[in-house]
Amino acid sequence: MDHFSPDLLAEIRNKFAFIEDCPFEGKRIFFENAGGALTLKSVVETSSKFAAIPDNQGRTNAASVALMAIIQEAKKDASRLFGSSTGQFFVGESGTELLFRLVRNAATSAKVGGNIVGSSFEHPATRSAAKHWASQTERKYINVQHEDSNGDVTAQLYSQIVNPDTRLVTILHASPVTGISVDLEAIAAAIRSIAPEAFIIVDGVQYAAHGGINIDQYNIDGYAISPYKMYSRHGYGFAWVSDRLTQMKHEQLLDGPDDNWELGTRDTGSYATISDVVKYLEWLGGKIENTDSRSVKLYNAAKAIAAQEIALTELMIDGEDNIKGLKDLKGIEIIGGEKNLNRKGLVSFRINGIPSQVLVDFLNDKGIRTHVRKADHYSGNILDPLGWEDCVRVSVCHYNSSEEIKSLLLALNEFQLD
Ligand SMILES: Cc1ncc(COP(=O)(O)O)c(C=O)c1O
Repeated sequence: MDHFSPDLLAEIRNKFAFIEDCPFEGKRIFFENAGGALTLKSVVETSSKFAAIPDNQGRTNAASVALMAIIQEAKKDASRLFGSSTGQFFVGESGTELLFRLVRNAATSAKVGGNIVGSSFEHPATRSAAKHWASQTERKYINVQHEDSNGDVTAQLYSQIVNPDTRLVTILHASPVTGISVDLEAIAAAIRSIAPEAFIIVDGVQYAAHGGINIDQYNIDGYAISPYKMYSRHGYGFAWVSDRLTQMKHEQLLDGPDDNWELGTRDTGSYATISDVVKYLEWLGGKIENTDSRSVKLYNAAKAIAAQEIALTELMIDGEDNIKGLKDLKGIEIIGGEKNLNRKGLVSFRINGIPSQVLVDFLNDKGIRTHVRKADHYSGNILDPLGWEDCVRVSVCHYNSSEEIKSLLLALNEFQLD
C-alpha cells in the first residue's frame, strides 16, 4: 500500500513531467530514477524562462540585479534543504566534475605527505578522483573494503584503515548499485577521532532524492549532488564546500575574491531550479502538516518521501496477496539482502543463470523501464566481489505508486512462467 493517500499521490504525480509517458516510446512505468529522476514541471518552465534572458550578472541594470538576487535566494533555499548554516554552495558541470574539483583542491591544499582513503563502495566519480590525486600528490591510496552481505560500508571499517596521517577521505552517502545508504555522521566522526585535520568529501548524488540531508550534523568539507537526480534537470552539478576548505589555497581567478568557488558565468536558471525543488518539497511537507516553518516542511517532506519509498521497496520484495514478491520468485538474488533498513528506494537483483539484459528487455516490452548494471568500470566494484556479471536495477522515487510495483511483479511472475 502507498504511504500517501490516493489524492495526494495524484497531486504529487501531476507535478512531474512525463510521469506516465515517455516522449519517444509512449506509455511506460518509470523505474530508472537512479539514472535520472523525473523533472518537476516547474523546473521545465523555469529553465526555459531563464534560457531566454541574455543579461549577465554583476551589472547595475535591473535584469542583472534581479538575476543576482535569484542566485542568492537559491543559495539560501539550498542551505535550508541541505541543513547547512556555514560554508557555501556553487554549481559546476556535473556531480562528477564537482567531486573531482573538491577532491583535487583538498588533495593539493592539504599538508604534504600522508595518505588518501576511500572505499570500494564508492561510485567511480570519487574513487577515480581520489586515486588520481593520490598519485599526483605522491600519496598512498588506501581502500576500505565494503561489506558484500549488506551492500554498504561502516564507520568501524573506516576506523580500521584511517590513521593519523590520513589527509583526505572520500565517502559515498548511498550507492546507485546496491541502493544502500551509510551512516555518514558516524563515519565522519570515526575519521575525525583518528585524523581530525583530514578533509572529508562526500558523494551525495544517489542519496539526495531520497530524503533528508543535514550537513551541519556531518562535520565534513564537501558534499556534491546531481540535480537531474533530484527532480531538477541535466546540465549542471551542485556542491557545498566547508569554510575550512575555502580558507585553504584553492583554485580561483587571480586577484578575485578569496572565498570564490564559482568559475565563470553562472547559469541563473540552474540556481533557480534548485529553488523550484525546495518549493516543491515545502509544498509536499505542507501537505503533511500545517505549519509556517519552512524547515519543518522540508523535514516532513523528507520523512514522507522515505516512508513512501520504504512502502514501495518492501512491496517489491515481499509481494502482496497472490502476487509474489522478489524474495519468492524462483532463483532471484537481491544485493544487500531482503531486509535492509538502510535501503533507499533501489533494489538490484538477478535471476541466476539468466542475463539481466534479457529481463530488462522483457520488462521494457511490457512498458516497464528498469536498467541493467554490468560488472564494468561503473559497477564492477560491487558486482565482481559477488561473482556477478550483471544485475537488474529497479530504482523508485516517492512519486512511484504501489500499482506500478504490482505491474512489475506481475510481469516478473509472467517471465517465470514462460
Ligand atoms: C553516486 C553517484 N555519484 C556520481 C554520479 C555521477 O553524476 P553525474 O552524472 O552528475 O556526473 C552518479 C550518477 O548516477 C552517482 O549515482
